[in-house]
Amino acid sequence: MNISIIGTGYVGLVSGACFSEFGFNVTCIDKDKNKIDNLNDGLIPIYEPSLESLVKKNVKAKRLFFSTNLSEHFKNSDVIFIAVGTPTNPNNNKADLKYVFDVASEVADLIDLTDKPKLIVTKSTVPVGTGKKIESYILNYRKELELGKNFEVASNPEFLREGSAIEDFMRPDRVICGAESNFAKSILEKLYRPLNLRETPILFSKRETAELIKYAANGFLATKITFINEISDICEKVGADIQEVAKGIGLDGRIGSKFLHPGPGFGGSCFPKDTRALSEIAREAGSNSRIIDSVIQVNESRKINMVKKIKNALKPLENKSLSILGITFKPNTDDMRESPSLVIVPELVKVVKNINVYDPAGMPIAKNMKEFTGVNWKNNTYECVKNTDGIVILTEWNEFRALDLEKVKKLLNQHVIIDLRNIYKPSSMIELGFKYISVGRGS
Ligand code: UDX
Repeated sequence: MNISIIGTGYVGLVSGACFSEFGFNVTCIDKDKNKIDNLNDGLIPIYEPSLESLVKKNVKAKRLFFSTNLSEHFKNSDVIFIAVGTPTNPNNNKADLKYVFDVASEVADLIDLTDKPKLIVTKSTVPVGTGKKIESYILNYRKELELGKNFEVASNPEFLREGSAIEDFMRPDRVICGAESNFAKSILEKLYRPLNLRETPILFSKRETAELIKYAANGFLATKITFINEISDICEKVGADIQEVAKGIGLDGRIGSKFLHPGPGFGGSCFPKDTRALSEIAREAGSNSRIIDSVIQVNESRKINMVKKIKNALKPLENKSLSILGITFKPNTDDMRESPSLVIVPELVKVVKNINVYDPAGMPIAKNMKEFTGVNWKNNTYECVKNTDGIVILTEWNEFRALDLEKVKKLLNQHVIIDLRNIYKPSSMIELGFKYISVGRGS
């Protein structure tokens, strides 16, 4: 089977590398020539564990190729994945489908009427009904094309998480396929046969159902995080411990223990964008989205509340110097998209005299972001905390979990740690002589 994947972002590149690892011939296509040149030279544009070795291995095996030119690979492709970005359009909060339809027209132009049909599969997260819209768009764009005879459109949303994307692709909880015809089903079945052999559930449904499963999953997970964040606020007021509350409720099989870690609010390239898009999907369909709307709102105010928490812990703020450990939206990624740090750090810059920042992977991108204007970039944790009056842990990178706390204590002017990820035990920190403020565990 020959596969073309259009868009070499997280989803496209990871899917391409993993499908080639399954043994298929894959060409990853992107308009960005620089990106493709780099990929051909073995330079991976994103920080994702194991991705580089997987790409190199499959390039060497001549199963994985990179190109800017779809037309050169189109004829040989049995299936074309659309994995381009669907960012939020700031004017209406909807997912912007410009790039998706650009691909649809390119594909429509390339279809050979005498050839066997091509399967076009959306892997990007697209609003419910997009599969149908792409189909109508192509039929309208090139009137001589016939559905079924020349092409079909299926949906195959991706659930990978940054930082564990390869593992998520190779060992998913399930694969969702929105495909109605036997032709589409048989291609998707072949593509996912290696996973099926490992007994991964492969669910076939209507396209609209598959499209909604993706939003419903992300909406639910975002709600779960927001819920535990709200419960952590209650914990602080009533003297309960959120870690124990999360464990206590998580052991109920109906609730489950995952995604119950309180923090500074969810960020990243998916949850914020997809909750906003789900709200819009509901509104357009004339349905309610009161829960998701609250989740969006509560998550926004969460970040500002974290600023208040930090200010409170550092009071009085005059002439204070602060160190920030971690700025990416989660560990094991260099992705800064919608990271809580983008709201929290600029608010702190306004009131604190000096801010040092260190992140194991996020700094090259963050250095060019206006949100970090005025901060001092540091090369490691100890350089970062030196001579500051307090530490804020914003991202739970492993290297922050095992700090030499005696050394940290000696380097700090004041022994204050504000841990917004609860990576330390309050009793041990107090014993060591720190003023330790965490989330949902009293003060
Ligand atoms: C998410 C989904 O998990 C994935 O299935 C989907 O395809 C894309 O969106 P990702 O954005 O990579 O993946 O990261 P994830 O690990 O889900 O974390 C998202 C955000 O939620 C992060 O900011 C993280 O810190 C936060 N989070 C997550 C919490 O605050 N608490 C938790 O318990 C879990």
